[in-house]
Amino acid sequence: MNCDLIAPHYWWIERLGMGRMLERRRRWFLPELTRARRALVLGDGDGRFLRELLRQNPAVHADYVDLSSRMLELARDKSGGERVNYYRADARTLEFPREEYDLIATHFFFDCFDASELDTLIGRISAAAKPGARWVVSEFRVPSLAARLAVRALYLFFRITTGLKTSRLTDHRPILETHGFQLESARPSRGGLVVSELWECGSL
Ligand SMILES: C[S@@+](CC[C@H](N)C(=O)[O-])C[C@H]1O[C@@H](n2cnc3c(N)ncnc32)[C@H](O)[C@@H]1O
Repeated sequence: MNCDLIAPHYWWIERLGMGRMLERRRRWFLPELTRARRALVLGDGDGRFLRELLRQNPAVHADYVDLSSRMLELARDKSGGERVNYYRADARTLEFPREEYDLIATHFFFDCFDASELDTLIGRISAAAKPGARWVVSEFRVPSLAARLAVRALYLFFRITTGLKTSRLTDHRPILETHGFQLESARPSRGGLVVSELWECGSL
């Protein structure tokens, strides 16, 4: 997947196609994240979530990881380098420090991976989470035929514009549970097409 081409246009294409639905999901749990001190923000694209996280939590320091250099530049323009380390890297292969983070954030990122990749990725990232760490997730769901068609159209759009190989959504919930996370709270959008979730790392 290469998001360089669509990076500067990403926000307005999203606004045109989805209104503020995705932005509301990304921001939903921010008021609950004010105690976080070390955050790992994966696949945050143009950095809109990262900027809000830093604004609402003046004590947090974050590691931002994204495959796209254009996305990374946009994120750095928004949030600067004072409290953020930026890594242009593949989250599937990047080495993460063990038990480092008390917050992990993945918004509309799991949908880039097939089931086996997602299992490996979540397993590796779980090892980087401190006991009691929280994981905030936003993702698409397919509770209806209309949602299924909408998600299929989105995959087609990303395949054409970014070369995304994955073509179907994997349910991340059982995978997060397998790796020791418990769902604390979930907030679906109206119609259930997207959901924000807050997970906590318990003991296996
Ligand atoms: C669908 S976009 C979502 C962007 C943003 N999180 C949002 O809420 O809109 C997926 C993002 O993940 C990045 N990405 C995809 N695969 C990646 C990987 N293996 N490692 C790191 N970043 C990746 C892409 O470059 C892109 O910025």
